[in-house]
Amino acid sequence: MAFTRLTAAEAASLIKNGDNIGLSGFTPAGTPKATTAEIAKIAHAEHEAGRPYQVGIFTGASTGMSCDGLLAQEDAIRYRAPYTTNSLFRGKVNEGKIAYNDIHLSQMAQELRYGFLGEVDYAIIEVCAIEDDGKVYLTAAGGIAPTVARLAKKGIILELNAFHSPKSIGLHDVYEPKDPPLREPLMIQKVTDRIGTTYLQLDPSKVIGVVECNIPDEARAFKDADPITDKIGENVANFLMAEYKRGIIPPSFLPLQSGVGTTANAILGALGNNPEMPAFEVFTEVLQNSIVDLMYKERVRCASTCSLTVTNDVLTDMYNNIDFFKDKLVIRQTEVSNSPELIRRLGIIAINTAIECDLYGHANSTQICGTKMMNGIGGSGDFERNAFLSIFTCSSVAKGGKISSIVPFCSHVDHTEHDINIIVTEQGVADLRGKSPIQRAHTIIENCAHPDYKELLWDYLKISQKGQSWHNLAAALSFHDTFVKEGDMHNVNFSKYNK
Ligand code: COA
Repeated sequence: MAFTRLTAAEAASLIKNGDNIGLSGFTPAGTPKATTAEIAKIAHAEHEAGRPYQVGIFTGASTGMSCDGLLAQEDAIRYRAPYTTNSLFRGKVNEGKIAYNDIHLSQMAQELRYGFLGEVDYAIIEVCAIEDDGKVYLTAAGGIAPTVARLAKKGIILELNAFHSPKSIGLHDVYEPKDPPLREPLMIQKVTDRIGTTYLQLDPSKVIGVVECNIPDEARAFKDADPITDKIGENVANFLMAEYKRGIIPPSFLPLQSGVGTTANAILGALGNNPEMPAFEVFTEVLQNSIVDLMYKERVRCASTCSLTVTNDVLTDMYNNIDFFKDKLVIRQTEVSNSPELIRRLGIIAINTAIECDLYGHANSTQICGTKMMNGIGGSGDFERNAFLSIFTCSSVAKGGKISSIVPFCSHVDHTEHDINIIVTEQGVADLRGKSPIQRAHTIIENCAHPDYKELLWDYLKISQKGQSWHNLAAALSFHDTFVKEGDMHNVNFSKYNK
């Protein structure tokens, strides 16, 4: 069957106010770009005409400007899940204009299948090749594409994006788990084991049309590493090497997962360039530039990921050298790349970045001062909760030192004290394993807090009620309260709080 060709504007015109759209992709990688940009134009015109127009978005993770950015700008998003990084979207969420459901990435596809999130009206899937029987080949990410394509009740729009080379066919391992009580074990015992197909089989009768385009991915280049991120990377690398030398980490090492952002990129660079570190494996959700570089240098033996979140020059180079990657790289659906079952079985060492950590080892990955969304939890909870070693990093201070990222109590908790083994800042490493809450507090202040804030944190313990955890409930958020009111956590004054 040859599928109907549509312009992006024709495809967008199918989507009506109130529809939910399910997207391929994970991060801007593999996300459709042509149709959503046209939906934004429709929203603009409808709003100009005084008519309501908003859609719900279900996707793998963040998208780029042509989706979250343009649609947020036009107030065209009613509801969205999960993770996003777009600043325009963030602004609308924090103004209360978008209902943003920040769920663990591994749960997104299954929550759609379970019927928790509402119905998928249309699926929009970016592909690099299409066969007449409905087999399609995904581009730079696995995401939740099989699930949204199968659930879409009004049909599927394919974006055939010539920017993505069909040379990449073979990288994907497409697999959609069954739902309980029929769910089967994920039979993956090594990073590159495969359990699915290289293609996504669609029901051809559901394909409404194909939008041909040639649009680069919208992955961001991260800020350059700086002395702080370099020092955090060095501290993580030294800690892991010490664990390796004393036999906690097995001789072949264990697969690494490293989160998103500048710090994560710097950590991978530090690990890869440490001469004592053996070549290692990566089992992650986002493959960033630094990992590709380490694969070329044979410092990373192989990688499993949900997306190639690399800059376009790196992606093009990978397509041109695809034979090098074919037996070393697998792209998976999010519920496989982030599967708790696999993370625990493979013994992943998880390293993610927090906004802030508290004295007892809770971490906040998502909300500034407890109220303003930053990005979202992403896959950090999937990995950290189930890892062999669960590591959080952050700079000890933010905003020129006016914020301490080590606080008495987190203003929002994404990861609890029960899930985190190690906290690392540029100041040092707090090893929380086997410690009681007050022992954790001591090691975190001593090893991770910035010298400017150590005395204030010790003072907090002095005014706290003793118990399993020591707290002064009135002062627990005093650091944040002071920052919100006075713009600088240094000004905390404990004299107003009773013991
Ligand atoms: N209080 C207030 N703001 C803080 C802060 C704190 N304690 N710590 C950091 N920030 C601000 C920074 O100043 C910066 O602000 P800016 O954008 O205005 O410059 C911003 O948060 C990002 O911090 P940065 O130091 O540049 O870190 P990053 O690029 O490494 O990103 C996270 C850090 C936490 C935002 C990012 O890792 C994230 O979104 N994590 C959650 C999802 C996740 O872990 N995914 C990976 C799973 S695989």
